[in-house]
Amino acid sequence: MNKNDDILVSVEHLKKYFHVKGMKGPGVQAVEDISIFIRRGETLGLVGESGCGKTTLGRTILQLHEPTSGKIIYDGEVIFDGENPWKPGADGTMTEVKVSKPKQVNMLPYRRKMQIIFQDPSASLDPRMTVGEIIGEALDIHKLYNSKADRADRIKELLSTVGLNTEHANRYPHEFSGGQQQRVGIARALAVNPEFIVCDEPISALDVSIQSQVVNMLEDMQHELGLTYLFIAHDLSVVRHISNRIGVMYLGTMVELAESYELNRNPMHPYTQTLLSAVPVPDPQLSRSRQRIILEGDIPSPMNPPTGCRFHTRCPHATEKCRMEVPEFKEYAPEHWAACHML
Ligand SMILES: Nc1ncnc2c1ncn2[C@@H]1O[C@H](COP(=O)(O)OP(=O)(O)OP(=O)(O)O)[C@@H](O)[C@H]1O
Ligand SMILES: [Mg+2]
Repeated sequence: MNKNDDILVSVEHLKKYFHVKGMKGPGVQAVEDISIFIRRGETLGLVGESGCGKTTLGRTILQLHEPTSGKIIYDGEVIFDGENPWKPGADGTMTEVKVSKPKQVNMLPYRRKMQIIFQDPSASLDPRMTVGEIIGEALDIHKLYNSKADRADRIKELLSTVGLNTEHANRYPHEFSGGQQQRVGIARALAVNPEFIVCDEPISALDVSIQSQVVNMLEDMQHELGLTYLFIAHDLSVVRHISNRIGVMYLGTMVELAESYELNRNPMHPYTQTLLSAVPVPDPQLSRSRQRIILEGDIPSPMNPPTGCRFHTRCPHATEKCRMEVPEFKEYAPEHWAACHML
């Protein structure tokens, strides 16, 4: 991508395939050829239906999953660069060819700069550790204190930053509510002074009444600490208020990406139009003009994705070209990218 104004994270042609035991071929093609960038200090929202690869994309950017191929660039530094070993043969089936070893840097310093907040706070906190130990462990790994007293002070400070009582450091995760547990998860992520945080559906496991509290807190932290977020959610209604830009994924691919307001007003990709038709709009004029679109057919499997445009089996406008050729992810209007042959 050619926009190099203060980009913190970018990926180019990123792919992540999961090998399936006993199966020939590349396995689950969970992330397919994604190229995006995230500017410093912005929130990029990421939406798409369950199983489309949002978590896999987030985790692969952090290299919690080893990428299959593509490039990951963090703050101007190439931290992964690998060639795709899977090539389509004459009959269309994918075969593995020998490629050179990918370029990879030591991730330890980047592990501190890039953090993740998980969807299910209770499952992501070790039940045998106190909250103080959970936060302290993050400080220990990166040696972020000078003395024991300094470490204890830092834990207290983090607890109060996320709105928890500093006396709670000796309690165990099960002694907290879901919302409080998520605050612990956020304190753990913040402990290492990160720059970039993948927020993987951080509020979907929480009670509706506390969802906005946690979102507001994440927004406040972003402003105070200058954080950059990749914010994953199932649906557009959650991300559209907090995201500067939104990316829409379908079956491992990025089908559209634009500034939030622009995406809401002018969705270009038929899949985005479908997603938007399901979101209630406060503007009555816009609401009347927007009919709910119901997609036909099931989501195909990422183990055996459709040829050409992956959306063609469910797209109301698909033509022969869509069945044959993969559409390019192109900038059709300033800052507005989409991958569709109809544009
Ligand atoms: N470790 C893994 N091994 C094999 N397949 C995996 C693994 N992790 C994810 N997948 C598969 O990759 C695809 C994308 O999964 P992913 O969890 O990234 O989707 P998602 O968009 O985050 O879904 P959800 O909204 O339900 O969280 C799915 O088909 C999933 O089954
Ligand atoms: Mg997920």
